This record gives sequence, structure tokens and C-alpha cells, in this order.
Amino acid sequence: MRKTIIVSNRLPVKISETEGDYSLQPSEGGLATGLGSIYREGNNIWIGWPGQEITDQKEQEKVTKKLRKMNLMPVYLTQDEINNFYEGFSNETLWPVFHYMAVYAHYEQTYWDAYYQVNKKFRDIIMKVAEPGDTIWIHDYQLLLLPGMIRAEMPEISIGFFQHIPFPSFELFRLIPWRAEILEGMLGADLMGFHTFDDTRHFLNAASRILPVTTTANVVSYNDRAIVVETFPMGIDYNKYAEMGSDPEVLQQIKNLKENFQNDRLVLSIDRLDYSKGILQRLQAFELLLQLHPEYIGKVVLYMIVVPSRDQVPQYKELRDEIDKQVGNINARFRTLAWHPIQYFYRSFPLETLSALYNFADICLVTPMRDGMNLVSKEYVASRNNNDGVLILSEMAGASKELIDAIIVNPNNIGAITRAIVDALNMPLPEQQRRMKQMRTVVAKFNINHWVKLFMTRLQEVNEMQQNMLAR
Ligand code: G6P
Repeated sequence: MRKTIIVSNRLPVKISETEGDYSLQPSEGGLATGLGSIYREGNNIWIGWPGQEITDQKEQEKVTKKLRKMNLMPVYLTQDEINNFYEGFSNETLWPVFHYMAVYAHYEQTYWDAYYQVNKKFRDIIMKVAEPGDTIWIHDYQLLLLPGMIRAEMPEISIGFFQHIPFPSFELFRLIPWRAEILEGMLGADLMGFHTFDDTRHFLNAASRILPVTTTANVVSYNDRAIVVETFPMGIDYNKYAEMGSDPEVLQQIKNLKENFQNDRLVLSIDRLDYSKGILQRLQAFELLLQLHPEYIGKVVLYMIVVPSRDQVPQYKELRDEIDKQVGNINARFRTLAWHPIQYFYRSFPLETLSALYNFADICLVTPMRDGMNLVSKEYVASRNNNDGVLILSEMAGASKELIDAIIVNPNNIGAITRAIVDALNMPLPEQQRRMKQMRTVVAKFNINHWVKLFMTRLQEVNEMQQNMLAR
């Protein structure tokens, strides 16, 4: 029977260990939810890193057994590989360049070598399970070489690739010493997907300027193959967020928030710790708000959650310290006995708490310097069952192409973010509702299931087209 193999750097599980015993919980991430209906079926499988260093072979066998029961297959990484492939090339080279922050990028041969080797490690594990007729769907920037590596082994297998982060303009992409190898790797796919038309256009442009390929509209002709490159903006599980508003636990937490904040207006900010998220600029904008509009002192609270991430990468550590400092400064400068301007949390929270916050917050402030899509903005919209609330959204987030009824800001323009907060605080309810309704229609329709179906259907069509071309 033909099967679908999903591949991503991380497996959709959270592993916790107590005294040598590992327990596995399915993760609640958007991708995991969307692909759940696929990888759990029949002999389909999801291949990836379990996210933890497990070196002992017996321990690995134990974990593998548990994972296999969940249709998951692990790729174990050594500490060296975690340092050089994951933290190194993926997050100190590709991540900053692809997010237009090339000054943060390190171009290290050891990082590249590890990246190449780990992509090969993934290939070898895939080769153990892949059979002719299977479909392979590879995800994201950690595995850009994998499509080409699999293609070299199985020329006729159907391969889809989706990149969840931006694809930068050619002038940025060309900075990477291994740019040609990266493009060759990606072009091993039959169908390549990006979140926005600009990402798609940038990829096509980079391919045509760096490699001896011809591109027409959205098709790249390379090595006698036709690779289709298209735009698939990713959605979320709309119903889950909309329905959580009536969950008893969420309702209780909303009640607690009401008691705690009483008449305060709440501005919500939720991100992974990342310099691409514009957290420091957001803090500056909030500080400027209190400085220019003292009438909001004691009345508006910035509720800021930063979820720990990649904390072994130096720029992330530095960012964390800088956030601590800025939050401390602003709180010390403006606090009163009864009120703190910023409620800052550096940790992750259960979905119920996030849902309560999405329901309760008057404003959601999402101002990344660069973001492939940004799902927080969509989660806020999906949670607003009363159609009220205001989303302030960076024009540099992929989501801004769909959520055009948000207040759209340039995240580098601190004054504009401050003005957007004032406008949001003063927005009449009918206008909030008009905008929110429009955005909810979009988020409900183009949800995660729609995205998965669209990509998979297109991959099948492209595959049929490839077969017809070969038969001719
Ligand atoms: C982004 C990337 C994902 C990545 C996630 C979390 O959303 O597109 O590929 O998994 O961040 O980052 P982490 O480094 O913890 O996997």
C-alpha cells in the first residue's frame, strides 16, 4: 500500500524523562494538528528529531519503540550535531539570513558540514522505509538538502517541500557561501510551497540567477525535470480556538483575569524568544505610549509572554538579557503602587491559558521584524467569538497579506506602533466588529485542514503531470 512520509526537523511530540523513563505527549503545534489526520493513518509515518539528546543505545531503543506505536520514527542527533547542524547552520546561518538579519549570520564550514551530514542522516532513515509510489512531504529550512538527496536515490518518488519561514530576496540569499548547493537540494522536490507570493517570487528569482535553470511563471526546469513553485498560506485549527472559549477551564481563567485586571485594558504579546519577533521595538513603543499619553498610566497593561527558545544560541541569550533589562526599566519608571505596566513571563503556558488571554485581551500586538506567517495573529482572531478586539499586525508578517483588516504597521516605526495602540484603544465597537468579522471569515475558511488538502492535492496533480511527461 502506498504511504505518505512526513519529514520535519522536530517530531510532533514532547518528551519528558523521569529517572530513565520517557513519556511522550503529542504536541499541540499547528503543523502537528494539521498533519495528524495524515501521519496517524495506516502505515503512514512522520520522521524527525525527538528534540532531546539521547545517547545510550538501549534508551534509544526504548524511545523508538514507543514512537513507532504513534507512527513516528526518530532521527537521533548527537550533541555535536545539535551544536553545528541545529544551533549552527540552521539557526545561526539560515535563520538570520532568511529573516533579513544577515548581520547576525555566521558562515562556518563546520556548520555546513554538519548540516550536510544531518540531512544525509535523515535521507538514510527515509530510505529504510520509502518505497516506489510513496509520497514524501518535507518541511522547513533545517532540511533544504533533503529533497535533492532523496531524488538522487529514488528519481521517480513524489516529493513535496514546504518552507515555513520567509525566503529572502536574492541579494540576501546570495550572501550564503553554499547558496547553489542549497538551491540544488530544494529543487529535488516536485512541488515547493511558500507562505506568500513574495517568498515564491524570491525563490524563483534566486534559482534563475544562481543556477543554470529556466523559469517560466511558477515552473523551474532543471535537470530535465519541471518543479512547480507555488504559494500556500498556512492556516490554523480555527474550530479548536473558537470552541475553547466555552471550555470550563478557560472560562474560569477568564474570570480570574477579570478579577485581576478589573478595569485595566490589556494589550497581549505572545512570541517565541527570537530577534525576528521585534520584541524590543514593541517594548519601546509601549514605553513611548506611557510617555506621550500619561492618561493611560494605571489603565493599560502590556501582558507579554516570551516562550523560551534556542537559548544556547548566543544572540538569543543576549536578547533575553536585553528584554529583562528593558522590562525592568519600563516597570521601574512607570509603575504605581497598585499597577505594573508590563506583566512579563519567560516561559510557556498551556493552551487553556493562552485561550483565556486571547479571549480577554482588548488588543493583540504582533509586530515581528520578519515572520514567515505568524500563527499567533490567527489564533487571536479565531478566539474572538464576540467579534470584538483589535489586532495590530506587522506588515512584515506573512499573515498581513490575509488579515488586511488588522491595523497594519511597519515594525521599525516605533511611533506608528504607539499610534496604532492609541487607535486600537479608541476604536469604536462597530468598527472592531466589522474588522474582526472579516478576519474571522478568512481564518475560518483558510484553516489548517484546507492548507494540508490544498498542498497534498496539488502534489498529486504535479506528480501525475511528471509521470505524463516521462511517458512521452
Ligand atoms: C519556527 C520554524 C520551525 C521550528 C519552530 C520552533 O516556527 O519554522 O521549523 O520548529 O520555529 O523552533 P525550534 O528551533 O524550537 O524547532
